[in-house]
Parts: sequence; C-alpha cells; structure tokens
Amino acid sequence: MEKPISIEIWNASGKYRVVSSKPMPGTRWIRLLTDQDCRVEICTAEKTILSVDDILGLIGNKCDGFIGQLTEDWGEVLFSALRKAGGTAFSNMAVGYNNVDVDAATKCGISVGNTPGVLTETTAELAASLSVSAARRIVEADEFMRAGHYKGWLPNLFVGNLLKGQTVGVIGAGRIGSAYARMMIEGFKMNLIYYDLYQSTRLEKFVTAYGEFLKTNGEQPVTWKRATSMEEVLREADVISLHPVLDKTTYHLINKQSLATMKKEAVLVNASRGPVIDEAALVEHLKANPMFRVGLDVFEDEPFMKPGLADLKNAVVVPHIASASKWTREGMATLAALNVLGRIKKFPIWSDSNRVESFLDENSSPPSACPSIVNSKQLGI
Ligand SMILES: NC(=O)c1ccc[n+]([C@@H]2O[C@H](COP(=O)([O-])OP(=O)(O)OC[C@H]3O[C@@H](n4cnc5c(N)ncnc54)[C@H](O)[C@@H]3O)[C@@H](O)[C@H]2O)c1
Repeated sequence: MEKPISIEIWNASGKYRVVSSKPMPGTRWIRLLTDQDCRVEICTAEKTILSVDDILGLIGNKCDGFIGQLTEDWGEVLFSALRKAGGTAFSNMAVGYNNVDVDAATKCGISVGNTPGVLTETTAELAASLSVSAARRIVEADEFMRAGHYKGWLPNLFVGNLLKGQTVGVIGAGRIGSAYARMMIEGFKMNLIYYDLYQSTRLEKFVTAYGEFLKTNGEQPVTWKRATSMEEVLREADVISLHPVLDKTTYHLINKQSLATMKKEAVLVNASRGPVIDEAALVEHLKANPMFRVGLDVFEDEPFMKPGLADLKNAVVVPHIASASKWTREGMATLAALNVLGRIKKFPIWSDSNRVESFLDENSSPPSACPSIVNSKQLGI
C-alpha cells in the first residue's frame, strides 16, 4: 500500500468490524449493520481499483466481514488474511463472482455472498438500450448534431435497422437474458432464438402466449426457437445479446470465427462480462464490416478498451453501467451487507435468492437470514 488509505467509520464502538472497500449507494445498508452492533469502516480512497495489498491493509488484524467489489481479485491471499483476522464472511456487491476464488474462500471457512434478484431488470434494460442505440445509430447521430453538422432532413441520414419482425438472439437465457428477451419481444415484436445449456420453459411459454395475444389482435404473432448450438443463433439472429456467466466455457465465446458466422448487418450487445468477447478480433471485424454494430457495457481489460475500438463509429461503448439504477445499486448494497451480517450472526440461508423483496422494504426490518451465499452447501450452512 503506497500511503495510508482514507477510511470513514460508523459506530466506532461496534463489536463486529465490517469493512467495505467502497462507499456504496444509500445509507440503509450502513444502518442495518450498525443497528446490529457492527462497526462499519468504508474505504473512501480515490483510487478506483484497489490492489491486493490495499485490501490486505483494510483487512488488518481484526475483521469479521468484508464487502468487496467485482474489480478486486479475491483469491487465497485475501481469504487467508481475512480468516487470520477472525473473519468468516465476504460478499461481492455484484451478482457475478468471477473475481472470487470460491474454493479458496471455502477452504478458509469464509462464506461468499452475491446479490441476485435486484439486477435483472436494470441490466436487461441497459442491454435493450444498447441494442436500440446500436441499431438506430443514436450515439453517432448525437455526436453529429452536437458538432453542428445537421443541415436539414435527408433521406439517407443515419439510416439504421428496424427491429420489428426481426429476430433477437439471446446467448445465456438465465435471469437477465430472459428479461432482455421479453423486453425485445414485447417492446419491438421481435422473434426469439436462444441458446442456453438449459431449456427456458418459462420464456418459451411467454412467447407462445404473447404470440397468441398478437394473433387474436390481428397482428403478426411472434415466435420462439431454442437453438441446438450457439452458431445457429449467430447465423439467424439480427440482434444478439450475450448474457452467460463468465467461466472457462464462455471465455472468448465470441471470436474471429463466430463473428464471421454472424450477419454482416447484425447488432451484437454485451452486458455480461468483457472476456466473453475476444475484443481484438471484434475491433478487426468492426473495421471490416461498417454495417455491423455493437453495444458494449463491458470490456476485456477494464478499464481499458482494445486499441482502435474508441475510434469506431459502429461501436456504442458505456463504462460498465448496466446495473446502475438507484434502486438496484441500493438493493445490491443492502443485500451485500446482509450477506455479511447474516453469516456473522449465524443466520440461516434465505430459501430463494431470487426473491429478495422482503430484504429491501425500507419500512420493516429485514428477515434474519443471509440473502444469497454461493458456497453455503460446501460450508454446510
Ligand atoms: N454488466 C453488468 O453490470 C452486469 C450486471 C449483472 C450481471 N452481469 C453478468 O451477467 C451474467 C448473467 O447474470 P444472470 O443473473 O442472468 O445469471 P444466470 O445464472 O441467471 O444466467 C446465466 C445463464 O447462462 C447460461 N450459460 C452458462 N454457460 C453457458 C454457455 N456456455 N452457453 C450458453 N449459456 C450458458 C446458464 O445456463 C444460465 O442460464 C452474470 O454472471 C454477470 O457476469 C453483468
């Protein structure tokens, strides 16, 4: 650690020391902890991404629980240090936890929390926004307007792709992928093709029912198809959105070869994790195919973009803001804090980590439970 890191302290006399590596939205999460005899320490350093050494400094000699961020590398070194400091609880303030070595945490007897149930709609909405922005060239047109280039309506000005009646492809139809699919189907009356390791019966039923509704209304019904391979989705879809988890099987899922399979005028969206796309191959593909467009929330080497990406007009890029709605971020903070508190207090695990409304109600105390612990079975809790 280069210099002592600045800390904000709440309830200094609290029995349990809980550290958060970042200030998190809202104050309810702090209150929930301090009401239960926790001393809360929040790192307020300006540095965006804390190093392992920085976090070791924050853990110190006594730390009962730690709330961390997806930008941090939580492996054996940090979990051993947390264990040595008497800690049993860690929570990511995220639903994804590819930055966490869960086996290392389990070996140290430390629970790993995540925050499903509050990100789904917000993240899907951003993926839908990126889809529309890329298809209708919103960012390019905005830049053009601000630069004073607009001289009047023209038949060929910023012509993009119509979504209605086209096919939306979803890779990874879990919580967020399914919510995104519904938005595109309901909002733009697109047909669905999806690829997932598991069948999404609920999504299929929804599209069938919505198609029936449209038919009775005298409109063209929407359709669905479960693809037998990812390539089938890439070949057939006009807009493709990526929503799988990041693991060994999805690393560089989209690469030079898979990009070549896609339609020349397709739109590709990624609000999952950056390394799902081979970004250098994507840059080359975008250069060679100006009508191919992407909307990216996440990048392979965050916070950096691969060389050339920033210069490409057919790319819409935003800085990993898919979960950035006030409701979601406050909810994530609350759930992360309760994951840590619940373990410290030896509360049981909540029965359904996707149904967390009762933890979020401002007007009542949350249930005495850990909302979502990913290694609860391994730990036998
Ligand atoms: N950009 C953001 O800010 C943001 C916000 C929230 C979540 N995410 C990312 O989105 C991911 C998905 O979140 P979720 O809540 O929908 O998770 P989820 O577990 O509900 O869904 C993931 C789906 O991916 C599928 N899958 C796994 N491997 C696959 C493969 N090889 N091919 C096709 N499908 C595969 C799974 O079967 C599952 O249905 C998270 O893991 C996280 O990394 C990003």
